[in-house]
Amino acid sequence: MQLQLLCVGDVVGSPGRRGLQEALPVLTAKHAIDCVIVNAENVTQGAGLAAAGYEKVIQDGAHLITLGDHVYRRRDIIPVLERAENIVRPANLPSAAPGREFAIHETASGRKVAVISLLGRMFMKTNANCPFAAADRVLAALPKDAKIIVVDMHAEATSEKVAMGWHLDGRVSVVFGTHTHIPTADERILPKGTAYITDVGMTGPYDSVLGRNKDRVVGSMISGVPSAFDVAEADIRLCGILATIDADTGRATKIERIRFDATAA
Ligand SMILES: [Fe+2]
Ligand SMILES: [Fe+2]
Repeated sequence: MQLQLLCVGDVVGSPGRRGLQEALPVLTAKHAIDCVIVNAENVTQGAGLAAAGYEKVIQDGAHLITLGDHVYRRRDIIPVLERAENIVRPANLPSAAPGREFAIHETASGRKVAVISLLGRMFMKTNANCPFAAADRVLAALPKDAKIIVVDMHAEATSEKVAMGWHLDGRVSVVFGTHTHIPTADERILPKGTAYITDVGMTGPYDSVLGRNKDRVVGSMISGVPSAFDVAEADIRLCGILATIDADTGRATKIERIRFDATAA
């Protein structure tokens, strides 16, 4: 039996949520998707995920939610992270950090999909532990019947993400990169059966710099004067990957980049 997983890149602000709302019904119908995994670290005004935003992203159709370096930006997400079973914090934060290290979604066909989030350490401001050791530790703790395992590698450096793909090849079904907000064209199935991509790109307004008002960002870069970077609005796209997984072995058989252009406002 084959399962179809949709992994969606960083949803940015309310334009990103609009992209989700328009895209998910269409993509789900077209591809018979069994599980939707959404990186929601930029949902609330572009940085973090508030409790209200969590509820909305679940209503939009996410089965599992990952975050990133903005995990605790909105403090009211902390009780959600402690209570909810469908959202994870990065697994390589300190052990006392609130939130779970893996989450499991049971599909309509009764298959378990586990998700793990990891933070890179290169060029990142967060003080994370070794993501490779954290991945090994969490994989050892997963229930044995969770054969389909998806890892969101949230990192800046392409090298660190590629290295994680190799580290986990044959041990997880998918490693998808997030955080840079720019899609890469290197999707492939690694030799031992892990679907890999360095970054799926963001879901949000592409008439922007990484989702923010382009005039503000460009002006600030030119003048050296800091500015509040508000979320942009136009050219909304959902970016992600669709992975086909053999449900019995957990191995990926196909990975395809997805880009859905939301209708013009
Ligand atoms: Fe990030
Ligand atoms: Fe992000």
